[in-house]
Amino acid sequence: MKKRHPKDSFVSSTEFVLPNDTNTLNNLMGGRMMHFMDIVAAIAAQRHSHRIVVTASVDNLKFTKPIRLGSIVTISAKVTRSFNSSMEVHVRAEIEDHTRGIKETSNEAFFTFVAVDQNGRPIDVPEIEPETDEEWNLYHTALRRRQLRLLLAGRIKPEDASDLLSYLDAGN
Ligand SMILES: CC(C)(COP(=O)(O)OP(=O)(O)OC[C@H]1O[C@@H](n2cnc3c(N)ncnc32)[C@H](O)[C@@H]1OP(=O)(O)O)[C@@H](O)C(=O)NCCC(=O)NCCS
Repeated sequence: MKKRHPKDSFVSSTEFVLPNDTNTLNNLMGGRMMHFMDIVAAIAAQRHSHRIVVTASVDNLKFTKPIRLGSIVTISAKVTRSFNSSMEVHVRAEIEDHTRGIKETSNEAFFTFVAVDQNGRPIDVPEIEPETDEEWNLYHTALRRRQLRLLLAGRIKPEDASDLLSYLDAGN
């Protein structure tokens, strides 16, 4: 299978936060943001694999800043690394402050998607070839994030998490 670059999977979607999306504090509801992020991440995984994908897990979902009613939020996603049938996708949401002309990160997460065939069985996906320094960094650190999530999910044993263990042994 032909290798693909992270930029080939890039997705960006802009949302306007309306009253139906907010809680009683007039901030965007967490579940609504999770929905936005899941859709954008799924499209990135689909663009990388050219397959049907399903969400397998979500890690490190951060809610750093409340998002006020009327805000404009851009959610973007890119595949960081593919393994066999699974792909890790980095998702970031940014609030646009048009009065100051800046964007601030409000949310971030790592989603894992699995490419499946018509019967829902996992199927291999293309490898990825990072290009920028940030993409290489996300690519290298993806292995230990995978080992941590599979360890916590009870799918691998500690002795199979060598990259994670060497990272922890190094005092990180
Ligand atoms: C995700 C799913 C296809 C995995 O099926 P499975 O029978 O466990 O398949 P396997 O054991 O062969 O694992 C397949 C891949 O899933 C990954 N995986 C399974 N569980 C995982 C988890 N909790 N976190 C991260 N990756 C996971 C495995 O590491 C493996 O990756 P690899 O092929 O790159 O090595 C299956 O659990 C499923 O269909 N889940 C429901 C998905 C869903 O409905 N999502 C919401 C709607 S889109």
